[in-house]
Amino acid sequence: MKKERNNRFHKMSKGELKDFIKKLDLQALETAEERIPLYINVGLKDAERILDVGCGPGSVTKDIAHLTKGKVIGIDDSEEMIKVARNVLKDYENVELQVGSAENIPFADNTFDIVTCNLLLMWADNPQKVVDEMARVTKQGGRVLASLEPDYGGKLHFPENSKVDPIFAGKAIRDQGGDPHIGRKLRYLFVRAGLKTKVGVGNNRIWSCEEDKSYYLHARDFYVKALKNAGLSNKEIDEWEFDYLRSLDKGEQLNFFPQFYAIGTKP
Ligand SMILES: C[S@@+](CC[C@H](N)C(=O)[O-])C[C@H]1O[C@@H](n2cnc3c(N)ncnc32)[C@H](O)[C@@H]1O
Repeated sequence: MKKERNNRFHKMSKGELKDFIKKLDLQALETAEERIPLYINVGLKDAERILDVGCGPGSVTKDIAHLTKGKVIGIDDSEEMIKVARNVLKDYENVELQVGSAENIPFADNTFDIVTCNLLLMWADNPQKVVDEMARVTKQGGRVLASLEPDYGGKLHFPENSKVDPIFAGKAIRDQGGDPHIGRKLRYLFVRAGLKTKVGVGNNRIWSCEEDKSYYLHARDFYVKALKNAGLSNKEIDEWEFDYLRSLDKGEQLNFFPQFYAIGTKP
């Protein structure tokens, strides 16, 4: 499983990799208003050493680097991602990037003032080991922050579709190797890592139909593939898509799912 994930980006075509990175960039933009208050809350501005775990192509590492005068180190276990991040962040003098596993963070105990991750635990093979490692490399009194960890069990979508809704409320994520219910587990993971923990839901916004339409059109291949993999016929998919797009065009669709954060202080 781990091996498979490490090779995941390697196996992607150039176009698929480009699309994945574009999606992360778009997500970073759309979620900035949820993440930035969290970065400020954990004291990023005055921190000296910050670690961003599972930094991917650097889309959110960039925000972190902007908000601090401290040194930011980004790690990811994908060489492809680090290569892209090096290019994206080449003009940031306070950023360093290296290949490294979140489950075996390549730094000594008590090294960082703040250790962050965004959209990582949902995809980690062993999220407890990741949070334990994040806590280990944090200094005493320092902060561990996990942001944007969704819980698709809380997904609300209207108009309803009894065949499609359960697929996008969990199955599609599970099939890709993710945990669609990671949000509800954050407190447990952080407390078990020995952290004084506060959890919350970072987003309260309901996506607008305009945003959702452009997102759908951008990610259409993913949606259609997930429905095919779940056994829906072409006719069922066409009917669903027709209704889905019509409800977006009419401005009637509602779409929400909670994205949790956890802030842990190392005693
Ligand atoms: C969904 S992306 C999020 C990237 C970035 N944090 C962001 O929000 O744009 C998840 C990233 O975590 C990395 N990742 C997943 N499991 C990892 C692990 N065990 N160690 C290091 N990186 C990991 C993946 O390679 C990928 O780049």
